[in-house]
Amino acid sequence: MERSTDVITTATNPAPSEPAIAVPVVAVSRLETDIGGSRILRGVNLEVHAGEVVALMGRNGVGKTTTLRSITGVQPVRAGTISFCGQSILRMSADQRARAGIGYVPQGRDIFPHLTVEENLQVGLVVHARKGADARAALARVYDLFPILKDFLPRKGGVLSGGQQQQLAIARALLTNPKLLILDEPTEGIQPSIIDQIGDTLKKLKTPRAPSDVIDEAQQEVERIKQAVKHIKEEHSLAILLVEQYVDFCREVADRFYAMDRGVVTISGSIAELTDEVVRDHLQV
Ligand SMILES: Nc1ncnc2c1ncn2[C@@H]1O[C@H](COP(=O)(O)OP(=O)(O)OP(=O)(O)O)[C@@H](O)[C@H]1O
Ligand SMILES: [Mg+2]
Repeated sequence: MERSTDVITTATNPAPSEPAIAVPVVAVSRLETDIGGSRILRGVNLEVHAGEVVALMGRNGVGKTTTLRSITGVQPVRAGTISFCGQSILRMSADQRARAGIGYVPQGRDIFPHLTVEENLQVGLVVHARKGADARAALARVYDLFPILKDFLPRKGGVLSGGQQQQLAIARALLTNPKLLILDEPTEGIQPSIIDQIGDTLKKLKTPRAPSDVIDEAQQEVERIKQAVKHIKEEHSLAILLVEQYVDFCREVADRFYAMDRGVVTISGSIAELTDEVVRDHLQV
């Protein structure tokens, strides 16, 4: 396990006799980002390799989303380097980064609510102008991962549940054929919606469904997303960078973790090293 300090260590090139180290899909070094005059990121270092799921964790407001937005290019950065497959992408726009292979599912429900499920998926295919057999194969793959989408193709995105919208957003990102898939709190929209639905159900006192059914459904959606992340990793050998507050979710899907506090990574390691003690000291409020 690595406990980061403010001292930045730079990677040294391997000696000629050592085996070559694979170039990370994404490598972030000494990243600094300001928002509205405040320093939000104060030297973030992290990297993700192909075939790896990496969890970026930390309490609310420590800079997780800002880190992801800096990598995708929607947030300008102040200093540091971001390389994608060995090339600096700092000068590339968010669009160029998406076309280069960075798929991003932002925090919240990022789908077009007034478009149908099918139209939302088409948006993903457009990024690489995927057509014909390639598009059909790509769609078949996402329907395997998320069967509910195939059943709901003509429905408007906005009528899907939080978990279904999240599945749609992940599917759309996958259809851009990314090398790096970035997910910001994929289960976030699911849990509060159960609470809302239970609240509504109790208020109306005419329980169309028992609250336990609603909970079961939400748990199934979380499970579906968890399984999908595992499958995506195995089948596509993608690099996946995931922000997720649910420790159990991370323990099940991630290979490694980084925990941030106030704009820097304070601890990182293999997922086995994400012990209860680390959770208590670095993640719990
Ligand atoms: N548009 C903005 N304007 C002002 N401050 C912002 C803005 N976006 C983020 N911040 C601030 O930057 C800090 C980091 O925010 P960020 O969204 O990266 O945190 P986070 O770790 O993703 O938190 P959460 O777990 O709540 O999603 C917070 O203190 C937040 O208030
Ligand atoms: Mg966030």
